[in-house]
Amino acid sequence: MIHRHDVIIVGAGLAGSRAAVEIGQTANVAVLSKVYPSRSHSGAAQGGVAASLANESKTDRWEYHMYDTVKGSDYLGDQDAIELMVREAPETVIEMEHWGCPFSRTPEGLIAQRKFGGHTLDYGKEAALRSCYSYDYTGHVLLHTLHEQCLKHGVHFYSEFQVLSLIFRDNRAIGVVAWDIVNGGLHTFYGRAVMFGTGGYGRAFKITSNAHANTGDGLSQVIRAGLPVQDMEFVQFHPTGLWKSGILVTEGARGEGGYLLNGEKRRFMEDYAPTLMELAPRDVVARSMQTEIDEGRGIDGKNYVFIDVSHLGEAKLKERLPQITELAMNFAGVDPVKEPIPIQPTAHYSMGGIPANANCRVTYDAKRSETVGFYAGGECSCISVHGANRLGTNSLLEALLFGRRAGKQIVEDLSHLEFPELPADYEDAATEEVERTMAKDGEEKAATLRAELQETMMMDCGVFRSRGQLEKQRDKVEELEERYKNIRVEDKGTRFNTDMLEAIELGHLIEFSGAIVEGALQREESRGGHARKDFPKRDDVKFLKHTLAWREPNGKWKLTFEKDVVLKGITHPGFEPKERVY
Ligand code: FUM
Repeated sequence: MIHRHDVIIVGAGLAGSRAAVEIGQTANVAVLSKVYPSRSHSGAAQGGVAASLANESKTDRWEYHMYDTVKGSDYLGDQDAIELMVREAPETVIEMEHWGCPFSRTPEGLIAQRKFGGHTLDYGKEAALRSCYSYDYTGHVLLHTLHEQCLKHGVHFYSEFQVLSLIFRDNRAIGVVAWDIVNGGLHTFYGRAVMFGTGGYGRAFKITSNAHANTGDGLSQVIRAGLPVQDMEFVQFHPTGLWKSGILVTEGARGEGGYLLNGEKRRFMEDYAPTLMELAPRDVVARSMQTEIDEGRGIDGKNYVFIDVSHLGEAKLKERLPQITELAMNFAGVDPVKEPIPIQPTAHYSMGGIPANANCRVTYDAKRSETVGFYAGGECSCISVHGANRLGTNSLLEALLFGRRAGKQIVEDLSHLEFPELPADYEDAATEEVERTMAKDGEEKAATLRAELQETMMMDCGVFRSRGQLEKQRDKVEELEERYKNIRVEDKGTRFNTDMLEAIELGHLIEFSGAIVEGALQREESRGGHARKDFPKRDDVKFLKHTLAWREPNGKWKLTFEKDVVLKGITHPGFEPKERVY
């Protein structure tokens, strides 16, 4: 079946939904989602969305937010895009408020704000209250608010449609081919513009805060279309994942005063970030925790430490952190009112992704040349506002803000974008993938391969990496790709065939993991979320560059370090690369 809309958006999270609200007001827009739209993973974000509203920290300014974001990115962030983001942050949040988003409130009735890692006042002097929140359900309420707006503006939703391929010809995005999860069968969607808001890829790792759906499909579809991905080696490990499950314990818990303890019952962050302590940026805190664990100072020598929020008291926990209180009870069996919560670093966010500019147009080379009719926003994109490490709460901001920018840009571009012709072979790649996957009758189990990938990515491409580990992991990924050819798909039916769809997702996970590992191997420095034990220092001479990675027809990765970082010049203090001390 063929569906024609002016604009096709893949992904119903904050970026895709926000763009759809913008476009739905004047054009015919379809949003495809693997899950019911309001179950998109944006809804799992807990602690807040950053904006220098100055409701609580009265002296806050966008310049401070910019300084924090640039420094937090370990100077790999593109400063033009960062400036845009932090300047437009207040209006982005207030717009959501005006659409009915139920933010928590200050006693005067303003949007409440809390502390978060790496956000400071006066260029690093003290922690800022900048994160606008709704209890610890911020992503959830933002997503529902946007979904209501989408319905109001007549956005067409195709829920439970899993996109299998991007139709991209002669530098132009034409549409996508998707599988109808409920009924089975291929559907082609084409339009004048295509936007990806396909989210992150935490499921490549064993311990992750990400939903099951976060298998990075959009990334490998872009790779298969012959386009590059950018900065894939920068994977963010959130410090506070529940031990064993990786479920998020919001950084807001530390923002509200929670602290970390090692096996000696000591606040070890004083050794690593004496000024900001637990509110240093995530890369710093995750590395500190991992160091404690690796050096035998985890709790009982095991691979976890504690976050203690019990001193906040039951009333405050109920008022500010009800979700993590419940999650800790249900998934770790501890009552945070009475006891500390066991935590470990959890794969949380992908700084890298589909290269795009600040207008969300997808680009394809080091000169930032633009594709036509193709846009990306949110976590799947790499506009590079986060560089090598994202600050907490800048993700919801990025998704809302660049979702809006993408929407506006698409509306403008529709004035000259005609409907493209569907090429004769538009469905071939998807048909071939479904037929090949359904026919799989080998000896390997997809679930076993996935578990091996997740386990080894965690172990050898995790918080700390080294050449030896990465070479081993490169071999492992190649081995898994070979064994993947020999998997068995038991379910040969069409309706709700999760056996087939998960096998297809596994193909994506293996594919882009290759780019993560290759980037991590070739980037011989430590920067932000990428920490090489054998190259512990940042190397700005060689690596103050974005990585672009293409997959060649022989399956090898081609990497370049030719794309410059946009440095704005020294218009504000501290924007030039220097040592990050917290
Ligand atoms: O810790 C958190 O609540 C996560 C927020 C974020 O990733 O921005």
